[in-house]
Amino acid sequence: MGIVAAVIVAAGRGERVGGTVPKQYRALAGTPAIRATLAAFCGHEEIDVLQPVIHPADAALFRAASAGLGKLREPVSGGATRQISVRAGLQALQSQAPELVLIHDAARPFLTGGLIARAIGAARRYGAAIPGLAIADTVKAVDQNSAVTETLDRRRLRTVQTPQAFAFALIADAHCRAEAAGRDDFTDDAALAEWAGHRVSVFEGEAGNVKLTTNDDFARAELVQAAALADVRTGNGFDVHAFADGDHVMLGGVRIPHRRGVTGHSDADVALHALVDAILGALAEGDIGQHFPPSDPQWRGASSDRFLAFACERVRARGGRIGHLDVTIVCEAPRVSPYRDAMRARIAAIAGISVDRVAVKATTSEKLGFTGRGEGIFAMATATLRLPWSGA
Ligand code: CTP
Ligand code: MG
Repeated sequence: MGIVAAVIVAAGRGERVGGTVPKQYRALAGTPAIRATLAAFCGHEEIDVLQPVIHPADAALFRAASAGLGKLREPVSGGATRQISVRAGLQALQSQAPELVLIHDAARPFLTGGLIARAIGAARRYGAAIPGLAIADTVKAVDQNSAVTETLDRRRLRTVQTPQAFAFALIADAHCRAEAAGRDDFTDDAALAEWAGHRVSVFEGEAGNVKLTTNDDFARAELVQAAALADVRTGNGFDVHAFADGDHVMLGGVRIPHRRGVTGHSDADVALHALVDAILGALAEGDIGQHFPPSDPQWRGASSDRFLAFACERVRARGGRIGHLDVTIVCEAPRVSPYRDAMRARIAAIAGISVDRVAVKATTSEKLGFTGRGEGIFAMATATLRLPWSGA
């Protein structure tokens, strides 16, 4: 089977949405919409190559939004209409001679891998295929005075989406013919294929595959995404280390000069270790000793940053987000409060979250117990995570 390519059109200005950047670069749940769109295609095993089409003024925005994604060709510049932008993408792919091409709006970031697979299957079978949805409302045709002229049979109507999928040669040729005929106003590629005389088949679309067109669409999308992260979890963590000879302690990723040091696992940062266990606890994915055994020589003296980064990466891998990290450090000395904000900043940086989601607190134990006697130090932590809802 031949190459399967995708053209992602992103050269529009998003005038109906407005804002400081074109809508496809606007953040949704912290990620530019276009990145989610590109990632859906990059991450699909049946897609071989992606051809982005952008506005030249957006080159830097595109570079930032697409950093680290695979299968991407250099973006090409689009034109004044969507049709011209698609044509530019198809022309850029000519040299690859793909078998199939999927043409998709950057402004539709919610498509699933299943939809991409259906598009590829239908294009292979029919040569030209588009996702469509049945209509629930009755549809009327009206005249210029808004008087009804006709009630349409909704069983025969579909609203259509992208990705629209075609045999590459078929749609490339149809675009050339439309250009030669002076037409540059087709709003979707199926309309152009129909005009060129091809039969276009409709396969099942997805209700969630909306095009971000207005500010309302963004507001609704934010709500849907927040609601999807409804599995709110709390984990706790606890860690103790004994003082020993030395001249500093590591606490919350910050080096604090002290007349004693601390012994134990890695750099013995009790605050970070407690946080790692809190996160792993919320994920129900074991504890720090299980992932980084103290008996393993490679962790001796290691900076604990990497353990926290690992736990946070596990959250991301599960499609989740860290809502809050809270740690309490208990010791008579050193004094923690002068370093509190530095610790918060360091923890936030390692976790990739904002500082206002990190709390560091400290207390003595009123000279009671092992901390009171100055024998050691302990920390306890709470992590609140939001994971995708996957059923009770
Ligand atoms: N598009 C494009 N080139 C154009 C116009 C649109 O590549 N000249 C792309 C858009 O970036 C978008 C998709 O086609 O991903 C669908 O178009 P639309 O939703 O209309 O986006 P915009 O044209 O950017 O928005 P608006 O019409 O509100 O300005
Ligand atoms: Mg438009």
